[in-house]
Order: sequence, then structure tokens, then C-alpha cells
Amino acid sequence: EKGTYPHYMLKEIDEQPLVIRKIIQKYQDDNGQLVIQPDILNAVDEADRVYIVAAGTSYHAGLLGKQFIEKWAKTPVEVHVASEFSYNMPLLSENPLFIFISQSGETADSRAVLVQVKELGYKTLTITNVPGSTLSREADYTLLLHAGPEIAVASTKAYTAQIAVLSILAAVTAERKGAGLHFDLAQELGIVATAMEALCDQKEEFEYIAREYLSTTRNCFFIGRAVDYYVGLEGSLKLKEISYIQAEGFAGGELKHGTIALIENGTPVIALATQEHVNLSIRGNVKEVVARGANPCIISIKGLEEEDDRFVLPEVHETLTPLVAVVPLQLISYFAALHRGCDVDKPRNLAKSVTVE
Ligand code: M6R
Repeated sequence: EKGTYPHYMLKEIDEQPLVIRKIIQKYQDDNGQLVIQPDILNAVDEADRVYIVAAGTSYHAGLLGKQFIEKWAKTPVEVHVASEFSYNMPLLSENPLFIFISQSGETADSRAVLVQVKELGYKTLTITNVPGSTLSREADYTLLLHAGPEIAVASTKAYTAQIAVLSILAAVTAERKGAGLHFDLAQELGIVATAMEALCDQKEEFEYIAREYLSTTRNCFFIGRAVDYYVGLEGSLKLKEISYIQAEGFAGGELKHGTIALIENGTPVIALATQEHVNLSIRGNVKEVVARGANPCIISIKGLEEEDDRFVLPEVHETLTPLVAVVPLQLISYFAALHRGCDVDKPRNLAKSVTVE
């Protein structure tokens, strides 16, 4: 099944442009309009607040989903880690909608919350890659990711598929509320797919970065602001789970509140700079860590690039940058794990779906 690929993870990273194109096609009607089933649209439209519940990478996708739904559809969103939800249940709004994001649809922590909120009589929607999975069967509604089977323990194509589907859900809801986007989302997602392809064609570059920064390091930090912070969280999860390098993602502004104490001579700091509105601030953070000896790897985007940037991403719509920014992080993690002799597809202590609470 992996064909000529040495690992599923690499194959699944490479499949991302195709998956994005498939999602556009699956969520388009005959006239090329993005559409969502009417009953699901009603449920989102009627909700006074959306509660996203998920674990791991799916939780990270949820953080980005909140941005789309709040910005475009103007519905307030809370994002919760599934395993904490039961004993940390927030005060719920009057008419909540629960969205469960789960690649496998089998995550026990998420299912426990689903059972709990169903008992309370609330509406539930599962966004999953697996039709017929437990979370899909037990929720009122399902949206599919159409990413094809994801075998590697480290989630890659499911994450970008989740972001794409959440963006479509938010855009179609916004439209329904009479506040359509000022750009063509389907077209912009197509541009993202092309940009992802270009990134997947530059594997040697990411292999080189992995060798340069990560071949012997003990730890690695990811910093970013706004959505780049969330992508950094995902980058750090990817790196730690397959390479066993202690990796953490931080909000640029939080560094001075403690984390900067961890910076030593040569500590790799991967900084994302894809957001114009925080560009100056994140670059200021990079200077702060460099002054403490860090080895910075700045990943920026066309239009914001500066001389010392290590990699410049191709330009995509400013709200969709996470879809491209994560690809180098996935590839860098892959090569770091490979160079360190780790079992890329089956990292120690981890299972593909976590079916115990
Ligand atoms: O199947 P799910 O999306 O519910 O899985 C959630 C997490 O277990 C999963 O994303 C995990 O964090 C991955 N190994 C991350 O790569």
C-alpha cells in the first residue's frame, strides 16, 4: 500500500494536495458553489455557541476552526481538550452545538464527552475521516474528511483536511447568515493545494534543515503568534511524537513570562512568521531568543520575507496560511525522526487511535 514510499507518513504528507482538491470537489455542488447538507447548516446556524471537543492533532485543528467560525460565521466558539471536558465542563450556553473532531472517530476521550452531552439532549456533529466510526454513528450529524486511510501514527493529511472542512463549514454558514466571504474559498483552497505541491517537491531542503538543526539536539521550541502559535503547537507535537526530541510550542508573547529561561547556546527555535499583523512582534521575539544564544529557523511567507529567513512559503490567502505552514514542519519532523533512527510510522508508546480514556 505504501508503494514506493519508505513510510506511510511520507506518503500521507505527499497526498495532502490531492486531499484538499478532493475536499473542494466533494463539498461543491454542480454550479461550483461550496455546500453543506441543510440539516447540518441549520444546526450550526441555530447554535448560539459552538463547543469543539477533540484530542491531540484534532484539537489543534479545532483551534483553527474556532478562528474561521468566529471570524466568518460570527458564532462564538470554545475549543476543549476532550479528556478534560467531563470534569471541567464549562457553563454551557442555551443552545449549544457540539462538534467532535476525530480522524479515527474512535477516540475514547471524545466519545465520553459525546455520550455525556447527548444525555443532556444537545446537538452533536462529528467531523471524521472514517464513515461508520463510533463517533460518526453516535452523533446527530457527520461531515467527512475524505482524506483516505491515514496509517502513520503521526497525523498529517487528516489535520489539513480538518482545517479545510472547518473553513468550508464556516464559510457556508457565513453565507447562509448573509455575510458571505469577500473571496472565493474554493479557489483559494485550490491555490493552497498547488502551494502544498511545491512544498512537497522541496523535500531535500527540509531534510537539510532537519539535519542542520535537529540531528543531535535535546530540545526544540516552536514560536508563533496568532494562528502561527497554533501551527507551532502542531509542529511541536509532530516532532516530539516521532523523534522523541522534547519539543514545545509557545506563543511569542509568552516567552518573557518564563519560557525564555530554557534557551541555551544552540537551542533550535523554529519561528513562524506568516501573519502580517504580528510580524514585527514575532521578529522581535526571534531577536530576544537569538540574544540568548538560540539557533533560529525562521519560516516566513512570500511578501513578509526577510534576509535571514530559513524558508519562505509560497503565498496563499492570509486566512489559510496554516495549511501550508504545517507542511514544512511535518517534513522536518519526518526527517529528524529518520536521521535519529526512530520508527517513523509506529513511534514508541503510541497507538493510532486511543480507545481507552
Ligand atoms: O483519531 P483522532 O483524531 O481522534 O486522534 C486524536 C489524537 O489521538 C491524534 O491526533 C494524535 O495526537 C496523533 N498521534 C497526532 O499525530
